Amino acid sequence: MSESLVTVLYLLSGALFILSLSGLSAQETASRGNRFGVLGMLIAIATTAFGAQVSGSGYVVLALCVAVGAGIGAVLAARVEMTAMPELVAILHSFVGLAAVMVGFATHLAPQHLTGVEHTIHEIEIFVGVFVGMVTFTGSVVAYGKLRGTLSGKPLLLPARHWLNLAMLLVCVALGVRFAGAPEAVALQSLLIMTGVAGVFGVHMVMAIGGADMPVVVSMLNSYSGWAASAAGFMLSNDLLILTGALVGSSGAILSYIMCRAMNRSFFSVIMGGFGGATVTPSAQAPTGEVQSIDVAETVQLLRESKRVIIVPGYGMAVAQAQYPLYEICKTLGAQGAKVRFAIHPVAGRLPGHMNVLLAEAKVPYDTVFEMEEINEDFPETDVVLVIGANDIVNPGALDDPASPIYGMPVLEVWKAGTTIVMKRGMASGYAGVDNPLFYKENNRMLFGDARKNVEAILAGLRQGRGAEAAE
Ligand code: TAP
Repeated sequence: MSESLVTVLYLLSGALFILSLSGLSAQETASRGNRFGVLGMLIAIATTAFGAQVSGSGYVVLALCVAVGAGIGAVLAARVEMTAMPELVAILHSFVGLAAVMVGFATHLAPQHLTGVEHTIHEIEIFVGVFVGMVTFTGSVVAYGKLRGTLSGKPLLLPARHWLNLAMLLVCVALGVRFAGAPEAVALQSLLIMTGVAGVFGVHMVMAIGGADMPVVVSMLNSYSGWAASAAGFMLSNDLLILTGALVGSSGAILSYIMCRAMNRSFFSVIMGGFGGATVTPSAQAPTGEVQSIDVAETVQLLRESKRVIIVPGYGMAVAQAQYPLYEICKTLGAQGAKVRFAIHPVAGRLPGHMNVLLAEAKVPYDTVFEMEEINEDFPETDVVLVIGANDIVNPGALDDPASPIYGMPVLEVWKAGTTIVMKRGMASGYAGVDNPLFYKENNRMLFGDARKNVEAILAGLRQGRGAEAAE
C-alpha cells in the first residue's frame, strides 16, 4: 500500500473517530457514533496491517494476535453486566498503558540512527511514554481491583502521602535527565528504575482515592491511556495513533472535568484523594422538623390525581434495578392522561450517563428523558415529583447552606413542585454523607422501603385502580 494511500486512510479513520465521539455525546445518536467508531477502527487496523511495517511471517503473528484479542474482547463484552462496565473499562486502560511501556522499551532497544536534537526528542518520547504508560497500567489495575471489590474501596491515606508522590515524581525527573544521552547500560538502568517508580506512583495515587470517586479516576485513567497511546504513536511515527491517543486523552480529561464540575469538586481534590472515606463535616444548618411518611396506597392516589409528574432517578434506583417497573408506571400514568418525564442530574448514580443507560435498557423513550438544565425550571408547574433512590442530587442545602460540603453543586430543585415523594429505605445519607433538608420540607413525603418493591407495589395499585375504573 502506497504511503499516500495510508495517509488518506488514516485521515478517514481519524474523521470517523471524531464523528464517533460527537455521536456518543447524545443518547439518540450514540449507536450511530458507535458504528462510526467501529468502522474507523477497522479501517485503521487494516491500513496498519497492509502498510509497509508488516510483511511475510508478520501477517501470521498479527492474524493470531488479532484472533485471540478479538475473541477475548468479544466474550468479555458479551458477558459484562452494566454495573461491571467501569471495571472492564479500567482493565482495558491497563492494557493500553502496558502496550505503551512495551513499545517504549522495544523502541529504546531497537537500533536507531538519529542524531542531535532528533535523538534527544526521541529519547524524551520514550521516557515520557513509558512513564505515562506505567502509571496508567498500575493505576488501572488498582482501579480494577477496587471496583471489583478485590481491593478495599477505602482510600489508603499514608502519612505525608503528597510528599511521597512529589518525591517519586522528582526521582523520575532526575532519572529522565540521567537517561538522556547516557551510554546504553546507564540509559537502560535509568529507564528500568523509572518504570518501577512510576508503577509504585500509579498504585499509590489510585489507592489514595475513595470508592465513590472511582468514576472520576477511571475517566482520568482513560485520559492517561490516551496520552500513553499518543506517546506510543510518536515512538512508532504513526500519525493515526498520535491523533487517536490525543482524542482519547482530551475527551477523558474533559469528561473528568465535567464530572468534577457537576459534583462541585476540583479535579485536583479528587486526585489528591481521601474523599470517599473521610468523615464529612456536618452542615452548619442541620435540618430540623418532622419527616412525614406516606404509604403506597396514598402514593397511588396522589399519582392518579396528578397531571404533571417528574421522576428523578438516582443511585438507589440502579441498586434496586427499579427502572423496568418504573417505565410501566409511566405508561400507565400516560394512559390516564398524565404527562410523565424523567429529570437526569449529570452525576446521578455513580457513572457518567448511569441513569440514561438504565432508562434506555428499560426502553424508556428518549424524548421523555431531560437533562437538569432542560427541566429544572419546570418543577413549580409540576404536581408530583417521584424521587427514586436519589439523595445528594436533590439536596436544597447545595443551594442555600454555605456550610454544606456540596454547597455550590447544581441540583434538581424538586422542592418547588406541589408534592415530592422520596423513595428510599431509611434516613441514610447519600454518597456525600450530608443530611438532606428536603426530607423535612412541608410538601415532602417519604415512602420508605426498597425502591423496586415500592415501584412494583405502586404499579399494581395504579393498574388495580384502572381495572376498578373500567369495571364501574
Ligand atoms: P446518593 O446521593 O448516593 O443517594 C442514593 C440514595 O439511594 C441513598 O441515600 C440510599 O438511601 C438510597 N438507596 C440505596 N439503595 C436503595 C434501594 N435499594 N432502594 C431505595 N433506595 C436506595 O445518589 P444520587 O442522588 O444519585 O447522587 C449521586 C452521588 O454520587 C452524588 O453525590 C455524586 O456527586 C456522586 N458521584 C457521582 C458520580 C457520577 S459520574 N455519577 C461519580 C462519583 C460520585 P437509603 O440507604 O436510605 O435507602
